Amino acid sequence: MAKKKVLFECQACGFQSSKWMGKCPNCNAWDQFMELSAKEMELLKEIQSHATNAKNQALSITEVQEEHHERFSSGDSELDLVLGGGVVPGSLTLIGGSPGVGKSTLLLKIGANLAQSGKKVLYVSGEESLGQIKIRANRLEANHPNLYLLSEIDLALIFAELSKQSYDILIVDSIQTLYSQAISSAPGSVSQVREITFELMRYSKERRVATFIIGHITKEGSIAGPRVLEHMVDTVLYFEGDANRELRLLRGFKNRFGSTSEVGIFEMTEQGLLSATDISKKFFNRGRNQAGSAITVIMEGSRPIILEVQALVAESSGSSPKRSATGYEQNRLTMLLALLERKLDLPLNGYDVFINIAGGIKINETAADLAIVAAIISSFRDRVISHESIFIGEVSLIGDIRDVYHLETRLKEAKTHGFEKAIVAKKPSAKEDLIKCYEVNEVEKLIDWM
Ligand SMILES: Nc1ncnc2c1ncn2[C@@H]1O[C@H](COP(=O)(O)OP(=O)(O)OP(=O)(O)O)[C@@H](O)[C@H]1O
Ligand SMILES: [Mg+2]
Repeated sequence: MAKKKVLFECQACGFQSSKWMGKCPNCNAWDQFMELSAKEMELLKEIQSHATNAKNQALSITEVQEEHHERFSSGDSELDLVLGGGVVPGSLTLIGGSPGVGKSTLLLKIGANLAQSGKKVLYVSGEESLGQIKIRANRLEANHPNLYLLSEIDLALIFAELSKQSYDILIVDSIQTLYSQAISSAPGSVSQVREITFELMRYSKERRVATFIIGHITKEGSIAGPRVLEHMVDTVLYFEGDANRELRLLRGFKNRFGSTSEVGIFEMTEQGLLSATDISKKFFNRGRNQAGSAITVIMEGSRPIILEVQALVAESSGSSPKRSATGYEQNRLTMLLALLERKLDLPLNGYDVFINIAGGIKINETAADLAIVAAIISSFRDRVISHESIFIGEVSLIGDIRDVYHLETRLKEAKTHGFEKAIVAKKPSAKEDLIKCYEVNEVEKLIDWM
């Protein structure tokens, strides 16, 4: 007799194994393996066959008709940008974020915008009562007759509501709170999340309903529940930000209908999240010129942002000097300090060095290196750098200053904000009139310039 096939699954990450294990080899979690029931095995098969079940006959690519994705605006320019130009009907978008970052706020407001534009929207909350959501809606001015609220966790009852009226948009807050009776495990477990996402996907593709799913994020930064969730949906966005600051970034992580390089920028205010159109002014202060401050222009997606970087160099009291960086990579700071010590003979070994990026922004590129170096030298020598100048350039291990991409875009932005000089590795050969550029191609020359 054939042995019954059994399958165990890690409830933390979705890793599968034919035998029970105490510790998951994938995510190292303990005691998370659960045997899948016959029903769950069936569902898994269905999902897998759904994924591979293409048209049953191969077609030469020259005969294939391309799909056109019509889109409509979400009523929010930042979200539209991150989605790649608007919402695609029938698409599934997962929005992940840590607790309190503003996921519900963002989606309630988007729901209201869409309702305003004539779409019928269902906002399902498994976390909050209607009364609680109403308080938020009042604060955000999100009251619109076409925005419907449902406080429910049972998937079957959510589908029952969906069958009563024809909705264009479905918002689910959050996937971890919903529950399907088809599966015996608890809400938020891997099997539940997979089943619910699968059902929502099937529904939204069939009815061309654009669906937004909110997902909680674990401490490690991934969406709680299985990775399979990210595979199943069309688009994955992460909502990031520091709960203590107002700035929020919406980043594309996966997008079947567009690029993932764009970043949406929002500001959390009493009235909810405001799309930051003129965000640039927030991250630098022209008025106060102080030693240890330098200005640069970074790129977030296609957008230049002018930033102030701050350095504090102070005589160290301990035997090993402290190095700390907020918003900038610590390893990179260590590298730059070693370089300054080597090339410029600055005795930084006896000094603590702290770096801070204004506004809580995290710098993910090397174009700010030059400004960091300038700020460190400025603080060390206690000499003010004029805030008329901006610094753009990557500093290499051997002390060269290198060109960065999108230099013209950055310089244009600086010009718009009235800066007069830029210190760069190489002047761009622009046709347009840009601000005055000074070429500095190695760190030794930066000192001369300063
Ligand atoms: N009256 C208010 N004024 C200003 N900001 C507020 C106000 N009430 C809430 N907030 C902001 O909204 C945030 C919570 O937003 P929201 O509930 O949308 O987050 P969430 O990501 O959905 O959280 P959760 O993970 O708990 O569901 C708070 O952290 C706070 O910054
Ligand atoms: Mg919420």
